[in-house]
Amino acid sequence: MTVRAEQRVIEPRPWLDSIRPYHPGQHAASDDGSLASNESPLGASPHVARAVAKAASGAHHYPDPLAGELCEELARLHGVAPEQILIGNGSDELIFLLAWAYLAHGGHAVCADPAYRMDEISSQVVDARLTKVPLRDWTHDLDAMTAAEADIAYVVNPHNPTGTALGLPAIECFAADSKARLLVVDEAYIDFTDDPDATTAIPLAREGRAVVLRTFSKIHGLAGLRVGYLVADRRIVATLRKIRAPFSVGALAQAAALAALGDPGHRQAVRRHTLQYRRALTELVTRAGYHVIPSQANFVLVQAPDEDALITRLAAHGISVRPGSALGLPGTVRMSVPTAKGLHLVEQALA
Ligand SMILES: Cc1ncc(COP(=O)(O)O)c(C=O)c1O
Repeated sequence: MTVRAEQRVIEPRPWLDSIRPYHPGQHAASDDGSLASNESPLGASPHVARAVAKAASGAHHYPDPLAGELCEELARLHGVAPEQILIGNGSDELIFLLAWAYLAHGGHAVCADPAYRMDEISSQVVDARLTKVPLRDWTHDLDAMTAAEADIAYVVNPHNPTGTALGLPAIECFAADSKARLLVVDEAYIDFTDDPDATTAIPLAREGRAVVLRTFSKIHGLAGLRVGYLVADRRIVATLRKIRAPFSVGALAQAAALAALGDPGHRQAVRRHTLQYRRALTELVTRAGYHVIPSQANFVLVQAPDEDALITRLAAHGISVRPGSALGLPGTVRMSVPTAKGLHLVEQALA
């Protein structure tokens, strides 16, 4: 047998060169100081650990490919048919599936600038054209986005990284007027809105006029287990079911999501905490002389012309946050709503 001297080399597809890698938020030394990734300050429901431990005894079995029980529960919750729901390995997986199905080979997407990074990266992966429409007053400029003759229009509501929310009437108008063929509304943070207008677009998804993305990573506190879902017209769900990896959502993740759904009390506690501490964080940071964009999410965006100085000041007290420059908004810093101890750390840092 001869040994080949040189290695075979394959180059990635050329359009992948322009992708800017995703850099996740950094954890601080303590959970209380970790304000970079918009995780739940109260963790998951205690029911989750029990359900995961029980499911672990069946770890040698493949999971239910379509997470049937979870689908049924969510269908009941949202008043749709189970065939209108697709569970994913986090909503990020579903964003990639949508790009493969509806943007690959010359598709066109429109989104806000800055975009949620996965909307941007998934479009680039499938070599689609992406039109980014600058925010107006820190919120989606739906009037400007309406004109784009796109395959997909992405609306993130509430938006990340600004935390601003659109009212359902505005989204309904956009669904009616937009030139885009498919409207995708990402509602990762919708559970934290208290603006009575800023309610879910699931009624539009029920009628097949939008795709709504949801995640178990935020109010349910399951970011580490990776569960998200979408609600859509059943033809869209059928297409995405064909192209997905069949076992992308593990059995432990499915059990955890079911247990989380079964604990509405925990969800209410997380929501109550988030609204209370969002207000407290906003007041504290404002008192320290910064301008805070009013938020409807579980984080706030702080205007800080010297971004690095604020980050360094917080880091000295064991707090990690997300630099706005990494999120497409230089001169800002994004801070997750903290625990009570976390708020105290912020207070000390800004004193
Ligand atoms: C707007 C938005 N969509 C989706 C996600 C990701 O959700 P998942 O953890 O379900 O992939 C995030 C996470 O930060 C987000 O900010």
